[in-house]
Amino acid sequence: MASHDRFRVIGGSQLRGEVTITGAKNSVLKLMAASLLAAGKTTITNVPDIADVDIMADLLTRLGCTVVRSDSQVSIDVPQIPGHRADYDLVRKMRASINVLGPLVARVGEAEVALPGGDAIGSRGLDFHIKGLEALGATAHIEHGYVVAKAPNGLSGAFVDLDFPSVGATENIMTAAVLAKGVTTIDNAAREPDLVDLGEFLISMGADIKGLGTPTITITGVAILRPTVHATIPDRIITGTWAFAAAMTRGDITIHGARAEHLELPLEKLASAGAIVTTTADGIRVRMDQRPQAIDVATLPYPGFPTDLLPMVIALNAIADGHSLVTENVFESRFMFVNELSRLGAQISVDGHHASIEGVLELSGAPVEAHDIRAGAGLILAALVSEGETTIDEAFHVDRGYPNFAEQLQSLGAKVTRE
Ligand code: UD1
Repeated sequence: MASHDRFRVIGGSQLRGEVTITGAKNSVLKLMAASLLAAGKTTITNVPDIADVDIMADLLTRLGCTVVRSDSQVSIDVPQIPGHRADYDLVRKMRASINVLGPLVARVGEAEVALPGGDAIGSRGLDFHIKGLEALGATAHIEHGYVVAKAPNGLSGAFVDLDFPSVGATENIMTAAVLAKGVTTIDNAAREPDLVDLGEFLISMGADIKGLGTPTITITGVAILRPTVHATIPDRIITGTWAFAAAMTRGDITIHGARAEHLELPLEKLASAGAIVTTTADGIRVRMDQRPQAIDVATLPYPGFPTDLLPMVIALNAIADGHSLVTENVFESRFMFVNELSRLGAQISVDGHHASIEGVLELSGAPVEAHDIRAGAGLILAALVSEGETTIDEAFHVDRGYPNFAEQLQSLGAKVTRE
């Protein structure tokens, strides 16, 4: 059943003004989990004000850490021997909880982590995580809803070839291998900027890692890591969301702190939709003064088009000039979002992992429901270009990934309230 926690949007405003990008959700949560690798106090800066950071802080506290959050930083004081069990009540709220698995096995020699929840965007297996830890010499299996992994005699470096460049699996294997004996090679590794950020964080703790950002990562284990201070990279998905918002509403948004090099393909696609994208001294500016042209997109692991921006592309195409084909290659259930968008009058048919979209001139406001963070943001963008009022239920999903979204939208001229 839908909760009464919602965004209310009156469509029709062109978004104009400036926003500043804070740290990436998909990076900071992994950095926090990886702080478990060294006893003592690690400090992470450029931390976004989102609900998931609180969940990870609770999880680390439960493992014996002292976590202090102030303004945009979090400090995590890790005990000599952290706990090893991450309970279901916390883990079920957030997929990134699984990132404590690698550090705990490496540091404590055992881990019990509940099977994670998080967004309803697909089956999201853990087989690559488990196979990777087994390759490093751990035993790992699923028992009573928990991943149970043990390596009482420590881990040993190994060759791990991933069937798919999974972000989470690459992270768990890398954070386990940094304390293993010998050399680990991860082939077909993920190349996402968030993963590179995690690698650089580990290097600043004393880890020996080569090949970050390439498909082959080589890690030479060290005996001990030390706490560190590290700034989280800016959130490329929020950056992309603002860029699409500018293009869809025929607005003009300057996005401070954005890194264009993390969004090459989405920005190219926006340019082919007719947007004027320029780099500024500390970010990017996206302007649009015409109806967007429809764009064909296929999501792929980085540097391909990010699956997390799929709802924004579909929302843009829903009001674009022309017909488009959008293909989802990473998470099979992303298209749940399409049913909601259709309630606003979008003309979309889905066949397997393809969505075929016929742009309409205007959408019309209606009550809809967010099933996950990005679908929620995509629906808010669609509501901005809908005639009349749209309510987006289950707003808490959006809070998990977008700090002060309603306030930021208001400052750009949108008629949005959070109830
Ligand atoms: C992370 C991001 C998510 C993003 C995704 C892809 C976080 C918290 N989430 O999710 O926002 O959309 O990367 O960029 O950082 N798979 C398996 N077996 C495994 C692991 C993965 O089959 O053991 C499959 C998944 O079901 C999915 C695909 O591989 O179809 C990619 O998943 P993965 O890259 O692992 O995504 P996450 O790390 O879960």
